[in-house]
Amino acid sequence: TLLHEELAGDEVLVVSNREPYSHARTPRGIEVQRPASGLVTAVEPVMRACSGTWVAHGSGSADRETVDASDRVPVPPSNPAYTLRRVWLTKEEEAGYYYGFANEGLWPLCHIAHVRPVFRSSDWEKYELVNQRFADAVIREARTDDPVVLVQDYHFALLPRMVRDVLPKATIITFWHIPWPNPESFGICPWREEILEGLLGSTILGFHTQFHCKNFLETVDRYLETRIEYETSTISYGGKLTQVEHYPISIAWREPQPEDPSVAECRDAIRREHGLPDNHLLAIGVDRLDYTKGILERFQAVERMLEMHPSLVGKFTMIQIAAPTRSSLDEYQNFEARVRALVQRVNTRFSSGNYQPIILKAEHHDAEQVNRYYRAADVCVVTSLHDGMNLVAKEFIAARDDDRGVLVLSQFTGAARELHEALVVNPYHIEQSAEALYRAVTMPEIEQCERMRSMRALVKDFNIYRWAGRMLLDAARVRQRERILAKIR
Ligand code: G6P
Repeated sequence: TLLHEELAGDEVLVVSNREPYSHARTPRGIEVQRPASGLVTAVEPVMRACSGTWVAHGSGSADRETVDASDRVPVPPSNPAYTLRRVWLTKEEEAGYYYGFANEGLWPLCHIAHVRPVFRSSDWEKYELVNQRFADAVIREARTDDPVVLVQDYHFALLPRMVRDVLPKATIITFWHIPWPNPESFGICPWREEILEGLLGSTILGFHTQFHCKNFLETVDRYLETRIEYETSTISYGGKLTQVEHYPISIAWREPQPEDPSVAECRDAIRREHGLPDNHLLAIGVDRLDYTKGILERFQAVERMLEMHPSLVGKFTMIQIAAPTRSSLDEYQNFEARVRALVQRVNTRFSSGNYQPIILKAEHHDAEQVNRYYRAADVCVVTSLHDGMNLVAKEFIAARDDDRGVLVLSQFTGAARELHEALVVNPYHIEQSAEALYRAVTMPEIEQCERMRSMRALVKDFNIYRWAGRMLLDAARVRQRERILAKIR
């Protein structure tokens, strides 16, 4: 990979809320778990390649038992490549910072999914406090005065400035993994100025798409006194420059290995495990059980397709893998209840004998299990109402080394800006999605092949190393420029 050259021996620290590995106490003893998170999927290969330190919230039930005296643990546990530094939070801190401000405030604020954001002063106080605690951990972990710090996501909008104040020579690259809304929508946030000032502590601020960058520049223009150069996409605030760029995130490309189960084996095995006959038409959905993912709209499209094409009843099934997420929040509990009710209604309507058109598997599946489903499916359906990138779309493509399978993809994902050979739909338009689903399950192999090959070439080329490499290259340029300027002064 290019990463080693870009970094040229620099110290790298990552900070994110979710940890790449958690340890859980189970009846079988302590087990290692990997979270269902696009962010972790994407950043982990980068860390493996550059062996730095990853600072994250220790949230597993046995996490404390596996760290050393400084709260560090080498990971991946099976084959250590870098250090995980865990930060502990009290119940109250987690409730205010993570569940409250981040997930009831910023998450619905930035995703246009028509769920109202909730803002409470008490949550904001915890958000500030936890950002400071993570900033302190980063500062303490840093061995040099000019490390490269990769700040991840909406949990840490204030941290870039906090780190910048103590380590002015640090290169801080902040990546916002979710969409950035327009200035009117963002303006709802009572602490909008503080959030913007915090983010402008970054050397580079990255989003998935040009469109999100533009929204961010316009938001800053509206609410802060800054100098903005639209030409170069830079913001000058308090004598410091922040470069705002788009870096579409991706996945680690992996060539098929001899020990991988073949597509034919996966097709047979998954159908057998679910009591479906050979060559039964299968669509797959893989998401966290989140209201932004368009899961209700997807099931409505399945229902509509079966209405419009009754010949498919008994011959088509949608398997939905839905990883539980943030389930102590009301909004998520209500959503889950609505999903279950809809599945039941559609299944009752079309079932006969053992046949059910929708199989909902509302539990965590590891990457290997999910990969078997990708390989077994005729179609993968991604119908997010709004999504920064959506890596499920890219994972599905990477899994299909047989060049078969069709991707149905929401136009409101970052991925739709790159994957033009998918069947792109507006998930709010149920009839349109139903037609696309029908087109997908009836698509001739030759057309599947053409589309899939073209998308595979793109994902293989624009992989996760490219994402990180481009950001680090931009950072290296800034560092070089600053070194030269420092000498002149
Ligand atoms: C999105 C966010 C990530 C988050 C993930 C899973 O991908 O951008 O920051 O980790 O969802 O959500 P969770 O709240 O379980 O970490």
